[in-house]
Amino acid sequence: MKKLALLGGLTPQQFLREYWHKKPLLIRQAIPGFQPLLSREDLLAMARRDDVESRLISRSGKRWQMAKGPLEVMPAIGKKGWTLLVQGVNLHDDAADTLMQSFRFIPDARLDDLMISYATEGGGVGPHFDSYDVFLLQAHGRRRWQISAQKDLSLAEGMPLKILENFQAEQEYVLEPGDMLYLPPHYAHDGVALDECMTYSIGFRAPAYQELAEGFLQFMADSVEVPGRYADPDLAPASRPAEISAAMLDRVSSEINRIRFTRDDIAIFLGEYLSEPKPTVFFDLPARPMRKEKFLQSAASRGVRLARKTRMLYRGKHLFVNGDSFTLQRQDRDALLALADHRVLSAEEVETASADVLDAFYAWYQDGWLVLR
Ligand code: SIN
Ligand code: CO
Repeated sequence: MKKLALLGGLTPQQFLREYWHKKPLLIRQAIPGFQPLLSREDLLAMARRDDVESRLISRSGKRWQMAKGPLEVMPAIGKKGWTLLVQGVNLHDDAADTLMQSFRFIPDARLDDLMISYATEGGGVGPHFDSYDVFLLQAHGRRRWQISAQKDLSLAEGMPLKILENFQAEQEYVLEPGDMLYLPPHYAHDGVALDECMTYSIGFRAPAYQELAEGFLQFMADSVEVPGRYADPDLAPASRPAEISAAMLDRVSSEINRIRFTRDDIAIFLGEYLSEPKPTVFFDLPARPMRKEKFLQSAASRGVRLARKTRMLYRGKHLFVNGDSFTLQRQDRDALLALADHRVLSAEEVETASADVLDAFYAWYQDGWLVLR
């Protein structure tokens, strides 16, 4: 694999082996000459939308305040010490989406979103730790990061956000536009804007096993089939009528223990779960949808691409799109895996796709999952 400037000249293998999930990495000029992809006004406008997650954080002395979006009113730009966080910018902006794609040496199942923070001088979210890996790319202005491998991760009480009670900075870096800091999960950090500043966080997802287990049992509940009904032709008179008999428990246990699940069931659950869009996501439907023939004609001459908000994953014979699963037919496999991996299909590839695939494309187009190139 190639060395990447984005990783300070490391190959993805070297980065993953030496730093990922292990230790921080400061990369000066990861993206040389980087210019912000969105203006301050663009961000403030996004924070007003109800289909965008945003938070406003400000501090006066030791008091922190947090308000959740949609945010109609913002503190004055001239006021120091506040910060606006806008989540999932990649879902709404092509340039932000393209930037996220440059981190696809990490699989889509692990990539979460691109968050942008805007801060006035002195702004920040306080010393804290995150449960996920993160790349912090400086987009505008300067931010001073203090970081620490400290084990004491106790949180200050009574705060509207997670603030470390005893933050002891061990290292300090000032990031300029284009610089990037990678931090593994649970690494304490505190970023303070030295002037008006914007920082892009490329964040990852790592579901808790508890969450996965609950989700899986829910998934199984939808498909489980346990025939029959409890019966006891051998019932004996009850001397302790309130007691559940051992015989009843044995029978019910043996029926419940017949429930089996396979690796394939887990694959389907995982694919549906990980490809499910967040609850705030609404797909943009085509304003005036083309009729099928017209759409197929255009697709065969221009090609198609996945909408920014579409999550597409696959495993074995299963394809997962936005929480739904499909069985991959042998003849469609190459085209659909190419679409999932590259997020685009050329005109030629669309031309040779089967009728089933074209039917699916048209349905996805109507749902806003897929668009013409
Ligand atoms: C920020 O950009 O201000 C906060 C990002 C973080 O610390 O995770
Ligand atoms: Co953080």
